[in-house]
Amino acid sequence: MGLFISLEGIDGSGKSTQARRLADRLRACGRAPVLTREPGGAPGAEDIRRLLVEGDPDRWSPETEILLFTAARRDHLERTIRPALAMGRDVITDRFADSTRVYQGATRGDLRGLVDDIHARIIGIEPDLTLILDMDPEIALTRGLARRSGEDRFEEFGLSFQHKLHAGFRALAHEAPGRCVLIDANRSADAIADDIQAVVTQRLG
Ligand code: ADP
Ligand code: TYD
Repeated sequence: MGLFISLEGIDGSGKSTQARRLADRLRACGRAPVLTREPGGAPGAEDIRRLLVEGDPDRWSPETEILLFTAARRDHLERTIRPALAMGRDVITDRFADSTRVYQGATRGDLRGLVDDIHARIIGIEPDLTLILDMDPEIALTRGLARRSGEDRFEEFGLSFQHKLHAGFRALAHEAPGRCVLIDANRSADAIADDIQAVVTQRLG
């Protein structure tokens, strides 16, 4: 089986930049990583993504979001993640279940129990390694909104929401220290990529 790695963190923290760089570095070592993302990562899941990241912030309740993100994740798991791991390929995903634990489970009321129950029944696996990019919410929000991607539904919840997310990801890192590694993301992309490579190399033995 390949290694299953997720990158997590608030919007604009550099996840997709670092996911690409990690994939490049693994390729340079002769591995064949699959680089993917959530919500999305499979055709049906990408259709669901558009429902989630576009439109008004109050378009969905947190409960409805949990179900939509989980539907997208199940499709991603069935069609992309499990087949790749079974072929012995590493999988690098830009976000996975920790995003639901934090965005839906810990920011707009305490829905963590519901998130955990649904995860256990429908998804049932965790990454081997989760890299949590830890960065200043103000800088991250400015970066994220500067992209003007048209996918800013969550950024539009504002700065206090980003502060809750930041605290939520740090709490998760303490909850699952064997799986999660906090990476200081307030640095150059090169320095962050070096740290990530060191952690991954150690996991690969
Ligand atoms: P995320 O996937 O977490 O939203 P991105 O990788 O898309 O974050 O990065 C958000 C923006 O910040 C992009 O414009 C990217 O080029 C820039 N960026 C990423 N990493 C760094 C860094 N270490 N320092 C400065 N800018 C960065
Ligand atoms: P993403 O494309 O990773 O956004 P960004 O590049 O801004 O970090 O994810 C889209 C949005 O979906 C992002 O704001 C986080 C949110 N999200 C959740 O709320 N719950 C989830 O389970 C996932 C996977 C993402």
